Amino acid sequence: MDLAIHLDRTSTTPLYQQLTEKIRTVVLEGRLKPNQKLPSSRNLAKSLNISRSTVTQSYEQLESEGYLETRRGSGTYICQTVPDQWLNSQPIEPVTTKIDKDSTLSQFGTNLISIGSLKVSESDYEISFRYGDPAVEYFPMQQWRKFLARHCENSTALLNYAPDAAGHFPLRVEIADYLGRSRAVRCTPEQIIIINGSQQALDLIARLILDSGDWVAMEEPGYLGARHCFLAQSAYIQPIAVNSEGLSVEYLRNYRQKFKFVYVTPSHQFPTGVTLSLSQRIALLQWAEKTDTLIIEDDYDSEYRYGEKPIPALQGMDRSQSVIYIGTFSKILFPSLRIGYLVVPPVWIPIFCKAKWLCDRFCPILEQYALTDWIGSGHFERHIRRMRHLYHLRRQALIQAFEKYFGDRVTILGANAGIHLMVKIQTALPDNTIIQKAAAVGVGLISARRYYLQPQHQGEFIFGYAQLEEAQIEQGIKKLSQVLKS
Ligand SMILES: Cc1ncc(COP(=O)(O)O)c(C=O)c1O
Repeated sequence: MDLAIHLDRTSTTPLYQQLTEKIRTVVLEGRLKPNQKLPSSRNLAKSLNISRSTVTQSYEQLESEGYLETRRGSGTYICQTVPDQWLNSQPIEPVTTKIDKDSTLSQFGTNLISIGSLKVSESDYEISFRYGDPAVEYFPMQQWRKFLARHCENSTALLNYAPDAAGHFPLRVEIADYLGRSRAVRCTPEQIIIINGSQQALDLIARLILDSGDWVAMEEPGYLGARHCFLAQSAYIQPIAVNSEGLSVEYLRNYRQKFKFVYVTPSHQFPTGVTLSLSQRIALLQWAEKTDTLIIEDDYDSEYRYGEKPIPALQGMDRSQSVIYIGTFSKILFPSLRIGYLVVPPVWIPIFCKAKWLCDRFCPILEQYALTDWIGSGHFERHIRRMRHLYHLRRQALIQAFEKYFGDRVTILGANAGIHLMVKIQTALPDNTIIQKAAAVGVGLISARRYYLQPQHQGEFIFGYAQLEEAQIEQGIKKLSQVLKS
């Protein structure tokens, strides 16, 4: 067999190295197949007009890299499995693609381009009021590790494909039970589908329910994670004003268009923090029943209520099976767990399971097993009680700091719930200037402007406090008041 290889004798790269690279490339490009025999070192040296030791040196190098193997008494062969080309220290030269990204992308892909960056902002501030992070250092990691370890030791069944896209059934039983007790959600375990955090619920809902040009009603201001999923599906969004009782149903009634669904965060409206009042809940359910519209209820942090009695979830009050309920463990355990759940009306179970299966089959099983036991043995609700107390203190610290350093120059919005506050600061300065001034003294702030579809609001900021100690909270607000005075 002849190998069509050209060696450059004028190059400064040694001949054995050139030969090694050429053979490697030939193998990776598939021009030499696994188990194929190579010419003997003597013959190859002769045909290339180089010394035999150059070929031997090159073959030895390729053998040590796992491309070639010497079979005693038979010769040198290409290995059955060659190393991954990406592990190769000398990758094949990249070829510039001729595919035009913009004209090749689907409508979904094109929509994502116009949505812009979805990156979570990194906080490298001394004190960051970034929204969303729970106090993860209080999560009982040792205990969690034991629950994980127990299942790692005991079960190889965990390693196989799960039989059910909807998730580990005992976990669904625990969740149904918990939701019934704490949120007055009425469902069977079968109605619960374990998903990769609430974000996956929003994505599946958008893909299963929305077509291009459909209308969705959403709270204004509202949650970006939801809005982006709906826009990615080419839906139109109708912002619905939020008042002190939550989403204004009266406002919703004014619209003629048929909405596919209305997306709401009734326990703790995102981002204002208002709770949807009982009368508005009833009005919303009646409107949904009358207009045959689905309600998407995102109950992302309802566990954290301070003093107020929880209002039952819309799902539990609904008579017409028009509510899809979303919950998450991100705020109670930790966000990187990526476990949440959907509660869907019975008729929707098969289609959601199919969508979940097509998307990523099912959620990781080990964590589902551990979580089942963790909830079942009471640790889950104990942890919620403990964190509720901690967040209550942090929340008080934030409110007191605002009272002390800002007095009546701020209005604190929102009910007695959740792990963030929305605050209106009376100032003539634009939000960006405030953010820059705060950043200059090590305080990270988030303006609420981005949560509005019609952004004319200035001076509204979201203050996540869960991850900050009381002293840091006071310090942060003090610094903020000083830079705003200066
Ligand atoms: C309104 C809302 N829904 C859901 C979530 C939680 O998302 P996930 O469960 O994907 O972590 C958040 C988190 O910040 C949120 O603000």
